[in-house]
Amino acid sequence: MQLLIKNIATLVQVEQGPPALRIAGKNMQQLPVLENAFLLMESGRITDFGPMDECPSVSESASMIDAKGKMVFPCWCDSHTHLVYAGSREQEFVYRIKGMTYEEIARQGGGILNSARLLQQTPEEELYNSAMERLAEITRYGTGAVEIKSGYGLSFDSELKMLRVIKEMKKHTDVEIKATFLGAHAIPLQYKANRQAYIAEIIQRMLPAIALEGLADYIDVFCDTGFYTVAETEQILEAGGLFGLKPKIHANELAVSGGVQVGVQRGAISVDHLEQIGQAEIDCLLGSPITMPTLLPGTAFFLNIPYAPARQMIDAGLPVCLASDYNPGSTPSGRMSFVLSLACLKLQMLPEEAIHAATINGACAMELQQTHGSICRGKVANVFITKPMPSVAFLPYAFGSNLIETVILKGKVVETTAKG
Ligand code: NIG
Ligand code: FE
Repeated sequence: MQLLIKNIATLVQVEQGPPALRIAGKNMQQLPVLENAFLLMESGRITDFGPMDECPSVSESASMIDAKGKMVFPCWCDSHTHLVYAGSREQEFVYRIKGMTYEEIARQGGGILNSARLLQQTPEEELYNSAMERLAEITRYGTGAVEIKSGYGLSFDSELKMLRVIKEMKKHTDVEIKATFLGAHAIPLQYKANRQAYIAEIIQRMLPAIALEGLADYIDVFCDTGFYTVAETEQILEAGGLFGLKPKIHANELAVSGGVQVGVQRGAISVDHLEQIGQAEIDCLLGSPITMPTLLPGTAFFLNIPYAPARQMIDAGLPVCLASDYNPGSTPSGRMSFVLSLACLKLQMLPEEAIHAATINGACAMELQQTHGSICRGKVANVFITKPMPSVAFLPYAFGSNLIETVILKGKVVETTAKG
């Protein structure tokens, strides 16, 4: 089945050659676009694109969309979410308005432990249904690849329950999903006096069972003050490595935790958050050809904490990735367009840099750069069409509007608000 989009005012993030591995430093300012273009998709893949005067004729059975005045982007690649969860945490949102901090709430048994209590009581099917609703929501907002973490189970049964939900989701969507085991998201209350006993549970029971069922692609640890230490993080990542799980870790959100260094040293695919980093962490990241620094400005916005020093990082030559962190506690939103607006407004990233960060670099943070994250022949046809827009910068500029009109996954229209 062919789908042709013609008269595209601007086709964004085109790659003529073989897919790039990641875009770093000054190159992040150069966004390759084609004006007045066509895009052809067949059997779920991008087969061709180019200027309209080279538009091929297609078979009569092909579907056609006229995108006059509109833009086409590759779908967002959101490389860090926790979108399987139970209930919501607006009560903590109110506590924070009244002056409590995220860490104070966590110390009193709220936060992640609050979500864990709710999740443990929720049947798998209910979790699956609510997570699929969130997946449909982020699809409408243009996400075509997403990483989803466990970490609200915090027990053998419930961590596996979460990961089975993600496995089931993978079967019922054309959004590309990667699953990450985050058993080390918090220390359950009953293990507070014996942290090593919980870590042993992760290493000796959870990991072998997860590996046996093939439930995870990556392993994560919340390496931060009040959560897991560097030594504990190393211990857990090493065990994960024995089961073939590469790390993607939470680092330096609340303090200069040493998380970046341990991530880089362990060959992490990404180190995420980075609100609390300085020159030492930037230098460390510059030494790694694989670890993608991933920023989650929605979290800094929602928790009212400092933003990561994106400008300093890019100016030093680093690549930067943007993700939503969609979760009930620190970022109850998976809307990537808003993440881009925050990146421009609060991280001083240029629109072009933000687009690279949310597409190709996001794909890279999920090891999907060969198949997702750009308009490239042979890549999966996950793209969105915008409403008419005067420029690329209009997308992050108009922060309250939903400018994404039609979403196409694997070459099929799954969502459209276009008329006619
Ligand atoms: O990425 N930082 C750790 N985990 C999540 C928050 C989880 C929660 O508060 O429920 C995050 O911000
Ligand atoms: Fe997170």
